[in-house]
Amino acid sequence: MNWGFIGFGRIARKFLESLQSVEGEIPFAFASRSNAVALREEFPEARVYESYEALLMDPQVDVVYISTTHNFHYGNTVAALNHGKHVVCEKPLGISYAEAKAMADLAREKKLFLLEAMWMRFLPAYREAIRRAKSGEIGPIRHITASFGFRSEISTNPDGRLMNPDLAGGALYDVGVYPLTLISDLFGWEPESFKAHAIKSITGVDETIQIQLDFGDDRLAQTLGSVALNTNKEACIYGEAGYIKMPLFWKCETFEVHKGEEVETVNIPYQSTGYAHEIIETAACIANGKTESELFTLNDSLMSAQLVENILTTIFKKK
Ligand SMILES: NC(=O)c1ccc[n+]([C@@H]2O[C@H](COP(=O)([O-])OP(=O)(O)OC[C@H]3O[C@@H](n4cnc5c(N)ncnc54)[C@H](OP(=O)(O)O)[C@@H]3O)[C@@H](O)[C@H]2O)c1
Repeated sequence: MNWGFIGFGRIARKFLESLQSVEGEIPFAFASRSNAVALREEFPEARVYESYEALLMDPQVDVVYISTTHNFHYGNTVAALNHGKHVVCEKPLGISYAEAKAMADLAREKKLFLLEAMWMRFLPAYREAIRRAKSGEIGPIRHITASFGFRSEISTNPDGRLMNPDLAGGALYDVGVYPLTLISDLFGWEPESFKAHAIKSITGVDETIQIQLDFGDDRLAQTLGSVALNTNKEACIYGEAGYIKMPLFWKCETFEVHKGEEVETVNIPYQSTGYAHEIIETAACIANGKTESELFTLNDSLMSAQLVENILTTIFKKK
């Protein structure tokens, strides 16, 4: 298929590398509002557009990958679907439940493929770790912990995408969705109750957020997300007969199964930069006429958007 890129920043480069590793998938066109001239020089074989609209008008583009800042995901996705393009949109799909619902509804109405790029869910090692956890070999699962925090050169830039509220910055949208997604694989998306606390940035976004969730039936979870602190980036799934430790869980290539003194290490490398697996899944779904992936469904996106909205509402006391 011919892929078009809407926005071309940091993550688009890593996605491109993965795309180039998948046979039959072509980086056909790029649209960048800030960088088209340089991209034209760098990719002379590709079509480069200065506006997103121009790329969407290109009849030879089959599917678009949207990696703009969070605030633009809704508008970019709606425009792409209205131009008849299949869409893979970076997480979060929308910055509210209403946005995500409108996006999913439009994709369903147009019978086009739509996927939130929750790449973790497609990684072979991640899937195997979840399969092992579900198999019962570590007993009934009682507790999950997962943290994902980083501090980068843009963590202190009030205008940058992580801290700027106008770009829908904040830790929960950017990294906090990964722990919640892992927890959803084992406990679902609907905790009976949760408590969330945040350290707010001077710009008014959640720069660090901790969440305790209670799923009933003696099932608890705890997450930490930050775009200001470099944290341990590990997930642990605790069962009554052992635990599974996933270092770097959101880009999982290795995990450990602990049972008493016994430790088994499992290594399953991902292809290229890891995004290849969601690309392969997208291509297979579209080839088979599917409008969503069973590995991360539109319902997953909607449930995730609802949970994120509920959590942010308690933090910011919005009505
Ligand atoms: N899956 C992953 O592993 C992963 C990792 C990091 C980020 N992400 C997600 O990918 C998306 C982009 O992240 P990124 O790190 O690639 O961001 P980025 O490099 O800062 O920006 C991506 C693009 O967004 C547009 N943009 C940035 N700042 C803007 C502004 N102030 N006003 C208008 N447009 C602006 C630009 O589009 P133009 O090129 O058109 O100018 C830019 O190329 C986010 O949704 C993020 O959550 C995913």
